[in-house]
Amino acid sequence: MKFLPWVSLFFSILWASTVAAIPSRTTDKRASSPFVSTSGPGFVVNGSSLKYIGTNAYWLPTLNTNEDIWNTLGNISALGIKVIRLWAFNDVDTIPVNGTWFQLIKDGTVSVNDGPNGLQKLDTVIQMAEQRGLYVILSLTNNWYPFVNSTNSTTSGTNNSSIRNYLSNNYGGMDLYVRQFGLQNHDQFYTNSSILTSFMNYTTQVVSRYVNSPSVFSYELANDPRCNSTLPASPTCTTETITTWHATVAAHIRSIDPNHLISSGVGGYLCTDCPKLYPLTPAPAPPATSPAPGKKKRSQAKPVTREQILREQSERRRRNREAAKRAGTLVEDGVRIRGRWVSTATKRQQTSTTGTLYDGSYGVDSQDISNIPDIGFSSFQLFPDQQSYGPDDPNVAPWQSVEQNGAQWITTQAQSASAVGKPSVLTGFGLVTQTNAPSFVPFNSTVAPFADADPNPTSYGVTSQEQADTYTSWLDTGIAAGLNGIVQYQWGQSDLTAEPGTTVTPSTTTSESPTPSSPGEAPTPQETTGESPNDGYSITGSTTVQQILGSASQSIAAD
Ligand SMILES: *[C@@H]1O[C@H](CO)[C@@H](O)[C@H](O)[C@H]1NC(C)=O
Ligand SMILES: *[C@@H]1O[C@H](CO)[C@@H](O)[C@H](O)[C@H]1NC(C)=O
Ligand SMILES: *[C@@H]1O[C@H](CO)[C@@H](O)[C@H](O)[C@H]1NC(C)=O
Ligand SMILES: *[C@@H]1O[C@H](CO)[C@@H](O)[C@H](O)[C@H]1NC(C)=O
Ligand SMILES: *[C@@H]1O[C@H](CO)[C@@H](O)[C@H](O)[C@H]1NC(C)=O
Ligand SMILES: *[C@@H]1O[C@H](CO)[C@@H](O)[C@H](O)[C@H]1NC(C)=O
Ligand SMILES: *[C@@H]1O[C@H](CO)[C@@H](O)[C@H](O)[C@H]1NC(C)=O
Ligand SMILES: *[C@@H]1O[C@H](CO)[C@@H](O)[C@H](O)[C@H]1NC(C)=O
Ligand SMILES: *[C@@H]1O[C@H](CO)[C@@H](O)[C@H](O)[C@H]1NC(C)=O
Ligand SMILES: *[C@@H]1O[C@H](CO)[C@@H](O)[C@H](O)[C@H]1NC(C)=O
Ligand SMILES: *[C@@H]1O[C@H](CO)[C@@H](O)[C@H](O)[C@H]1NC(C)=O
Repeated sequence: MKFLPWVSLFFSILWASTVAAIPSRTTDKRASSPFVSTSGPGFVVNGSSLKYIGTNAYWLPTLNTNEDIWNTLGNISALGIKVIRLWAFNDVDTIPVNGTWFQLIKDGTVSVNDGPNGLQKLDTVIQMAEQRGLYVILSLTNNWYPFVNSTNSTTSGTNNSSIRNYLSNNYGGMDLYVRQFGLQNHDQFYTNSSILTSFMNYTTQVVSRYVNSPSVFSYELANDPRCNSTLPASPTCTTETITTWHATVAAHIRSIDPNHLISSGVGGYLCTDCPKLYPLTPAPAPPATSPAPGKKKRSQAKPVTREQILREQSERRRRNREAAKRAGTLVEDGVRIRGRWVSTATKRQQTSTTGTLYDGSYGVDSQDISNIPDIGFSSFQLFPDQQSYGPDDPNVAPWQSVEQNGAQWITTQAQSASAVGKPSVLTGFGLVTQTNAPSFVPFNSTVAPFADADPNPTSYGVTSQEQADTYTSWLDTGIAAGLNGIVQYQWGQSDLTAEPGTTVTPSTTTSESPTPSSPGEAPTPQETTGESPNDGYSITGSTTVQQILGSASQSIAAD
């Protein structure tokens, strides 16, 4: 493996504390079980440790044929990928004519669809995953649900009417509950007892189907839970609101299912200075003698602090400046505009705060959530097109700033998980390429902002080579920092069966058409096959990324 020099520096600090964890197999009763469990900072299944590369495919249960599901799982598994993260929710306020849906939420009442176009589709995915030797992370609801008018099953209020279930944020979720229960604030999802009862009812019905299924890796409580969504937060929403909700729902799941891990699904935001509901207990004093060979114990890392983040940022900035000075390319300052670097004469203020990643602004304290006893592992996400992970550095290319900030986020998260003494999983990471830019829809939106707004198709996004370099760096960084799972966002599959009113619809124009059809031209015949949904991160046809994931699967398994 090769690392950038500054990355190696982080590792030398973290290496001793976060890597080379060997689970003590004899002490854990569940260690020889076929269900994935944890032993200290590692995952264990059938008595062996498990580290993995995964991918996201939220749309898997919405595919139109079992053969499509089977082939998709086969293509994923062929790369050595072990885990697929997907949506185990699909809420509607109006029953759609065609397509898959799991739960009707309407005027304060809920009902679950366990028919063939309902939870039975999820059953199929899970059975086939087991046959393919794959695990699934089942996410139970979503923070993100933009304004959707589902009277005719398409989104409205935008100039881009994607089909229902096409976008990852169009599967119902928290804001749908809030609206259908006649409430106004996003965080009432976490606190209103009627909603909580309904959500736990749904959770019961999903979880009780899979209690004995070894292919469930974990139940993830929600995708990216936080105080805000497209509905605003109430002023009373704090990190304690969201931590308490996690503890309540996790305890509920644990009461139904003793076999499976439960995880959060948060973006990973920390609050270094917030009060804790689940304070860390100080690590026990190290033994006086060194442990026996093969019984090497990992000493717990210290919790992440603001001072540390700032020190690491300024240290990295200094190294980049020195490298630029040596190369004769030193730049004082500039700004990044839509992914492109623009130098400016005005010197901007040096960042002297850690920003929203570490101050609890989103109502998330990932360390406190990870330390809830029923939460099995620490999790986080990395989406630089939707969240800044640190200041831009004028002395490296913009994509390199993104890469370096992302790598620092990864090592910081590994440290935070280690402080809690649990495994750490990156449950979603992705970078939008120029090719994918026209399809990119941010999670709080239904509009692809670069779809038709700009005549220049390369005005947003990284090149495929920059994406490949960044993914390689993040995977290397994550493996070296001791992450137990790294899950790319998102899989892409072609040659799927198309049907009207579903995620894979017959198109009237061929997307591969080299020339745009001229006005007045008769529509080409309907396609009977199509591609899986793409909200900006799909890797359909990207053999480079597939190879990177395949080789990372080998590295992490050998780690
Ligand atoms: C665990 O052991 C069971 C029973 O021997 C077996 O069916 C299953 O495939 C094993 N799972 C893994 C991941 O090795
Ligand atoms: C991959 O998917 C294609 C259909 O797109 C299918 O023909 C092929 O058998 C799949 N490969 C595996 C290994 O399952
Ligand atoms: C729980 O779910 C069942 C089945 O969908 C439904 O009939 C019932 O009304 C729900 N109960 C509550 C309290 O939401
Ligand atoms: C939703 O769409 C329908 C039909 O397009 C329209 O009649 C209705 O007013 C819309 N609802 C909202 C809340 O915009
Ligand atoms: C569905 O709603 C969208 C947005 O309001 C509208 O443009 C479209 O024509 C409607 N489709 C049908 C079939 O009513
Ligand atoms: C919860 O929501 C219901 C409406 O569905 C409302 O009647 C009730 O007052 C709310 N409870 C609280 C504590 O706000
Ligand atoms: C979505 O998020 C972006 C980035 O945080 C923000 O600028 C924008 O205002 C948000 N839009 C909505 C509709 O919440
Ligand atoms: C909600 O979002 C707004 C705007 O992004 C932000 O100023 C505020 O701090 C957020 N509040 C919470 C509780 O997350
Ligand atoms: C709408 O979005 C889809 C995918 O997000 C994209 O493929 C399509 O080009 C967009 N259409 C328009 C008219 O913006
Ligand atoms: C479509 O959306 C884009 C980006 O949100 C916007 O710039 C453009 O003006 C919109 N076009 C129409 C016709 O509304
Ligand atoms: C539902 O599917 C049928 C059969 O494929 C099709 O004829 C019909 O147009 C579809 N309806 C909608 C609203 O997509």
